[in-house]
Amino acid sequence: MLNDSYGRNIEYLRLSITDRCDFRCFYCLPRSHRDFETPADWMTPDEIVRLISQFATLGVKHVRLTGGEPLVRKEVGEIAQGISAIPGIEELSLSTNASRLAQFASPLRKAGVERLNISLDTLNEKKFQEITGHRLKPVLEGIEHAKQCGYSPIKINMVIMRGINDEDVAEMIEYCIEHGLTLRFIETMPVGEGGRSASEHYLPLAEIESRLRTRYSLQPATLRGSGPARYFRIDDSPLVVGFITPKSQHFCDTCNRVRVSVSGDLHLCLGQEDKLSLGKMMRSGCSDQELREAIHAAIARKPFRHQFNEVPTAIIRPMSALGG
Ligand code: 5AD
Ligand code: SF4
Repeated sequence: MLNDSYGRNIEYLRLSITDRCDFRCFYCLPRSHRDFETPADWMTPDEIVRLISQFATLGVKHVRLTGGEPLVRKEVGEIAQGISAIPGIEELSLSTNASRLAQFASPLRKAGVERLNISLDTLNEKKFQEITGHRLKPVLEGIEHAKQCGYSPIKINMVIMRGINDEDVAEMIEYCIEHGLTLRFIETMPVGEGGRSASEHYLPLAEIESRLRTRYSLQPATLRGSGPARYFRIDDSPLVVGFITPKSQHFCDTCNRVRVSVSGDLHLCLGQEDKLSLGKMMRSGCSDQELREAIHAAIARKPFRHQFNEVPTAIIRPMSALGG
């Protein structure tokens, strides 16, 4: 079992398989960003399987593939297949911008990916282009393909930004009802330069919640997957909406996760810089036992919480380095 010094049990690992992305969402990966990881440092699929196997031995049960955009990594299918075959890994999920799902939804489902989180902040073509630097149409087509391949649930992540997309919530609700999707609202986090530039549009989600309550009844709901979102059913519709409030109401005391970068750095908290280079350890010839001991010791040092409010300048790496 992986327990930290605050009694939190770590059973969820978010693995970034690339820090590149075909989008440039301004709050995540600003156009000026140059400092990408060098391909020679990327963990190979074999190294990934070796590393995740050690985490599984220690009690990690759920792995999520993230990016950047995980589908821009050529070996994504091989990586998914390798991880889903590891004994002890009960669940494999993926976070994506959906731009390439028309091509990848079906093969990835066959490779063992069960659940999808998809980023979509607006249905307005022009605004979408301004936020992401990309066209909306392939994303909507990608979502359509994912539905047909039987992913369940499909969760849409909408980063709420005042003056940018906070007026688009009603339209997103209609869209998610029509397509049988779950909709989650996320507060902007001051991670990296992009995240901080989005902070001027920060909107506490309590405000969205009260706007929704004037129009719908919100009944508390529960959903599979042990994330930090608070869920509500909208009226008697099949739609469940989630609120993720890292800034206004942090949920660090129930944190069950750690993150690994494409080069094998184990990050103990999204909002802190504490990390350990497991990739370098593997390349310098350490044993599996040494890897497990290092992971254990690192988790014991997991920080208690982020300091997005107290020290908003703490995190220099862009959100794209760890995929949220
Ligand atoms: N603040 C909040 N959410 C962010 N994401 C990316 N950057 C930020 C940020 N600065 C979200 C993406 C995606 C998820 C992985 O993280 O929109 O849905
Ligand atoms: Fe790419 Fe997702 Fe970051 Fe947008 S939020 S730039 S799609 S990694």
